[in-house]
Amino acid sequence: MKQQHNRRIWLIGATSGIGYQLAQDMAKAGHQVIVSGRNRDKLDELHAGDPEHFFPLPLDVTRFDAVQAAGQVIQKTFGGLDTVFYNSGNCIYVDVTDFQHGDFETVFQVNFMGLVYAIEVSLPLLRQGRQPYLVGMSSSAAFVGLPRAEAYGASKAAVQYLMDALRVDLAAEGLDVSTVFPGFVKTPLTDLNDFAMPFLIDVQQASRFILKGMEKRDHNIHFPKRFTFFLKLLGNLPSSWKTKLVQRTSRS
Ligand SMILES: NC(=O)c1ccc[n+]([C@@H]2O[C@H](COP(=O)([O-])OP(=O)(O)OC[C@H]3O[C@@H](n4cnc5c(N)ncnc54)[C@H](OP(=O)(O)O)[C@@H]3O)[C@@H](O)[C@H]2O)c1
Repeated sequence: MKQQHNRRIWLIGATSGIGYQLAQDMAKAGHQVIVSGRNRDKLDELHAGDPEHFFPLPLDVTRFDAVQAAGQVIQKTFGGLDTVFYNSGNCIYVDVTDFQHGDFETVFQVNFMGLVYAIEVSLPLLRQGRQPYLVGMSSSAAFVGLPRAEAYGASKAAVQYLMDALRVDLAAEGLDVSTVFPGFVKTPLTDLNDFAMPFLIDVQQASRFILKGMEKRDHNIHFPKRFTFFLKLLGNLPSSWKTKLVQRTSRS
């Protein structure tokens, strides 16, 4: 098992939902957590609650200059990083009767390009770190084409591919790469969903699954398994079966 204590972790997307819970659990475990997101009040709240373990670093991931500036602060203050966890994400559901490329740009800018910016800035910092580790947030929506998820699902499938390829290329440097694939987790993001969410779990459970997977450095951290195995199975069926089943499941 790799060294797991007192790590310098940059958690991007720490102000809400899964990220907010992860931030607290990481700090409780004794890590130094550099917390990022646009919501300064939430970052300050974390810092005020535990100034020893939280370092607030506000940023908008859609701006490369902001991510770069944050990286410079980290270099100066911490002299490198041990773990980077990119969690930031947004979701727009697509209406095929009003298909808009702008929806895809908005979603990809945060879910995918923000991750790319963070990786560019983080790699030099991780190369100075101890047993360096990069974690990206995908979704179980990446396993199978789901209705109205053309933009969100495609962005998360792109995250999956990017992380898979990076894992191969970075292995020689001893830099580990994991991807997280949650099922439905109750957060401000999913509170907006207008459909039934099977096997919905809370952020405390999600954080436990993620931290356990990170401890083992699982390449793919997916949960809850009874839901993600079903989606994976669905995704591997012949296309005609898959399409019919997804149509039927989403109607019911
Ligand atoms: N909840 C689920 O069921 C579920 C399932 C699968 C995957 N996921 C993924 O898990 C991640 C967290 O989701 P969540 O449900 O916890 O959502 P959430 O509560 O809405 O949290 C989203 C986080 O992303 C950050 N973010 C969004 N836009 C940003 C920007 N421009 N710059 C910097 N940070 C930005 C937000 O921070 P600010 O608003 O402060 O910027 C916030 O911290 C997302 O990537 C999501 O796709 C969630």
